[in-house]
Amino acid sequence: MRDDQPKVLISEEAIAAKVAELAERINHDYTGVDELILVGVLKGAFIFLADLARKLTIPRSVDFIALSTYGDGTTSGAVRLIMDLRRSIEGKHVLVVEDIVDTGHTLAYLLRNLQSRQPASLACCALVRKAERAQVEVPLAYLGFDIPNVWVVGYGLDWAERFRTLPYIGVVSPEA
Ligand code: PRP
Repeated sequence: MRDDQPKVLISEEAIAAKVAELAERINHDYTGVDELILVGVLKGAFIFLADLARKLTIPRSVDFIALSTYGDGTTSGAVRLIMDLRRSIEGKHVLVVEDIVDTGHTLAYLLRNLQSRQPASLACCALVRKAERAQVEVPLAYLGFDIPNVWVVGYGLDWAERFRTLPYIGVVSPEA
């Protein structure tokens, strides 16, 4: 059985243009650093990170971290680490790369966790944010798009593990 394809919210072309624009800003802001560690938050960020990393010209490396929410993660805000970074980030410049900021709890937890490891600098880059869902404020140095409170899929984002590899960001309706 195949569902209808999600309606386009952000096209493949619009995403590519935004990724290039973000990469240009990051290249500028980190000019001269010996290494920027890009920390991708699994699973959702893997496509965004892959595209962003390949648009950067500064020295960079890639690492991943995986987090999970306890119970109803959308309201409880309790987050736990299920896979850690491979390398130490002490004294390193770190940019967290997220696909989406919804309530903000995941990123808030992650920033507290990573800050305690004493990086030289720590900043965040998210592709999309649902501003009206925010429960905690998280500093986003780089943001692609503010989106309405709709269920988005594609470009790393899933709906019960489906649609992650769509090349665009689309909307699914809960009735689907
Ligand atoms: C998504 C997304 C963020 C988090 C944001 O991950 O990738 O990590 O939710 O939500 P928050 O701002 O409300 O904390 P998800 O739990 O869907 O896991 P996945 O990336 O493995 O799909």
